[in-house]
Amino acid sequence: MSIPPPIAMLAELTHRCPLSCPYCSNPVEMAARDTELSMRDWADVFRQAAALGVLQLHLSGGEPAARRDLVDLVSAAREAGLYTNLITSAIGLTEARLAALDAAGLDHVQLSLQGTDAAMADRIGGYKGAFARKMQAADWIVAAGFPLTLNVVLHRQNLHQLPEAIDMAVALKARRVEIATVQFHGWAMLNRAAMMPTRAQAQEAGRIVTEARARLKGQLVIDYVPADYHGDYPKRCMGGWGRTGLNITPDGLALPCHAAQTIPSLEFDNVKKRPLADIWYHGSAFNAYRGEAWMQEPCRTCDRRKLDFGGCRCQAMALAGDAAATDPACIKSPLHAEMQELATGFSVDDEAELVYRKSS
Ligand code: SF4
Ligand code: FES
Repeated sequence: MSIPPPIAMLAELTHRCPLSCPYCSNPVEMAARDTELSMRDWADVFRQAAALGVLQLHLSGGEPAARRDLVDLVSAAREAGLYTNLITSAIGLTEARLAALDAAGLDHVQLSLQGTDAAMADRIGGYKGAFARKMQAADWIVAAGFPLTLNVVLHRQNLHQLPEAIDMAVALKARRVEIATVQFHGWAMLNRAAMMPTRAQAQEAGRIVTEARARLKGQLVIDYVPADYHGDYPKRCMGGWGRTGLNITPDGLALPCHAAQTIPSLEFDNVKKRPLADIWYHGSAFNAYRGEAWMQEPCRTCDRRKLDFGGCRCQAMALAGDAAATDPACIKSPLHAEMQELATGFSVDDEAELVYRKSS
């Protein structure tokens, strides 16, 4: 099997974050501050990534602005020749810091939005005043000339705000909006009852996105991750395992996806101990679900297997207890009906309270 080089790398610079979103994709056991890679470690990883073929670097967290050396990290990424995107809640960004990031070579900013008004955004993010700061930061980002993407995670509690989220992206002069229905990994797994959308919400969201894409063609790009637990087919998670991208955790573990640590049979290499290219091509975790040889029926002989690669390995692990099983979001999975029943059950639990993410 010929293995292509990765296109994108997500660098989780820290798990620290001033917000405490209940759907955070960070693991429930987070990396402590004193285990974080140093600036020199990251600079070395960025050089290795560029040499490996990575084109885009996503600086993420936690909140990457919680790293005091963020500007130096961006300089290091630029020196390595990477296109650099900052994924941020905006807390910790000032106009002066954005100017410094611009001077250091930052290419793009992706701003997260937890709701389209202060009441929703501050409640879901668990941070009073966050919404006002995000709106201010969006103006600074655009004024500084950065292309802006808004990133909105939708769930049962805020899905009714989808039309406003799209309008807001236009008003804030974003070029792109990423609308992602919540994925149940990390902290979100603890919030399935409080956040699971209803089937009616999921269907309405699809309709709204289709209409908005037609209306805003040429003005706003809308990326959309639908609620696969209410659909017929799974998502093509990570563009296929070990195929297009990788994640590096704050303490240096190289992961095939952000939730890969939920698969207990996998062992992960650390970038401080093994060269990145060696990890990508020969690491056991990256090869575990690469290609098709690992697939079981019905994926093994399915004509969609090259389209979705059998769905999400982490969702298969969580719901089928076997990461090599067909993702139960697929209508051909023997567990599909059970998964949909589970999702419907969660979606009508109006008593469930949000479990907020804790700081590391
Ligand atoms: Fe995708 Fe497997 Fe379902 Fe086929 S059986 S559609 S490959 S998840
Ligand atoms: Fe891990 Fe989908 S989140 S493969």
